[in-house]
Amino acid sequence: MSSNEKSFTLTDNSSGKSWELPVMHGTLGPDVIDVRKLYADTGCFTYDPGFTSTGSCESKITFIDGDEGVLLYRGYPIEQLAEKSDFMEVCYLLLYGNLPSAADKVKFEHDITYHTMVHEQMQTFLRGFRRDAHPMAVMCGMVGALSAFYHDSLDISNPKHRMVSSYRMIAKMPTIAALAYKYNLGQPYTYPKNKLRYAENFLHMMFSNPCEEYEMDPVLARAMDVILILHADHEQNASTSTVRLAGSSGANPFACIAAGVASLWGPAHGGANEAVLNMLEEIGDKKNVGKFVEKAKNKDDPFRLMGFGHRVYKNFDPRSRVMRTQCHKVLDALGVHDEPLLEIALELEKIALEDPYFIEKKLYPNVDFYSGIIFKAMGIPTTMFTALFAVARTVGWIAQWNEMIEDPSQKIGRPRQLFTGAEKRDYVDIKKR
Ligand code: CMC
Repeated sequence: MSSNEKSFTLTDNSSGKSWELPVMHGTLGPDVIDVRKLYADTGCFTYDPGFTSTGSCESKITFIDGDEGVLLYRGYPIEQLAEKSDFMEVCYLLLYGNLPSAADKVKFEHDITYHTMVHEQMQTFLRGFRRDAHPMAVMCGMVGALSAFYHDSLDISNPKHRMVSSYRMIAKMPTIAALAYKYNLGQPYTYPKNKLRYAENFLHMMFSNPCEEYEMDPVLARAMDVILILHADHEQNASTSTVRLAGSSGANPFACIAAGVASLWGPAHGGANEAVLNMLEEIGDKKNVGKFVEKAKNKDDPFRLMGFGHRVYKNFDPRSRVMRTQCHKVLDALGVHDEPLLEIALELEKIALEDPYFIEKKLYPNVDFYSGIIFKAMGIPTTMFTALFAVARTVGWIAQWNEMIEDPSQKIGRPRQLFTGAEKRDYVDIKKR
């Protein structure tokens, strides 16, 4: 990051006073106007609900160009990583900034694998939830509770503690998600197996039971690994910003990630993959697709096509292209061709891509549109979709959290407001109201 000659002049037209606002330049992406001294100099705040024009931090982790459909993790294009890399390597890359050497990769994978079990007493904690609890509700609670079980690594000023907690988070998240699923089913918890790789282990914990081993299909295991890669990080999205904001107060990493899980749950964010499937079920039949597309276009109807549109990608979502290919590979491997929900999805994709409303507003199928279909074909229940997203995004959250702690310019996040409520008034006794 550099700051040089370019600046913006801000003029107060009523007084004629002017201020120079410095401009900062990154390695990629738009310049940013540095407004840190704005309030002290002018007595005014900026107003930007939804942060559509606000850079909240400096970061070296992930870059997105929404107009060009570019997504880079530490400089590497997502398409290359999805084709050539694997999730453990991507985790290392996001955490440490560079691709690992062969030896570093073996050690990293070994260390993560040997942290996958959760404290046995967490099962007692889990039993406090209702059997029919949503897996994301269970995840929020279980992840937050990790700080009560692993309090030997909570000193956030100690880099070693931070790394131990980071490894624990990445390693235990699939175990916690599978626990939530098994509990809901009423089946015994399946322990992780150290001979399996990360994505395989997750499938094993989800689908094995004491009576039957899960038969690993390499196409499905690879698809799961690619899905994890595609969701691993995404710049300063709602849940990542939540993690950073929670962490800015000095909260422990498990508490911060629990906050991220809560934010991810919403249907406008990670909850969209579950919402896509619910929407396809609501549409019910291929012949109804046109009617729902019209509903989505109607300004007076709150209905939106789930899995379409993105705050940043305004031409295409590069992850959804990779996901579409994986989707077809999985459906072929499983021999699923006549699934009614899939037919509805493909019809919806076709109609929406040709409709002037969606073309003009640059609304394209996003990553959640296809991930929902893949998960459904794999036999993963709809309520687990967002939990899976949380498993994948954990490394991104933790890498961003570490970066924030190490940033010397980091301060507690404390936005201000435009107050439009009542002015100061005197309390009126209840008998006189
Ligand atoms: N269906 C119909 N119309 C839409 C949709 C949609 N899915 N998305 C946006 N629009 C319209 C919206 O009504 C608005 O119209 P107008 O300009 O006439 O007021 C225009 O497009 C711009 O929408 P916006 O809400 O201002 O855009 P945003 O950047 O604030 O919202 C979004 C982005 C992802 C929240 C939104 O597109 C949406 O709700 N999509 C459906 C939910 C979804 O699939 N979310 C997953 C996002 S990708 C994964 C992730 O990041 O977690």
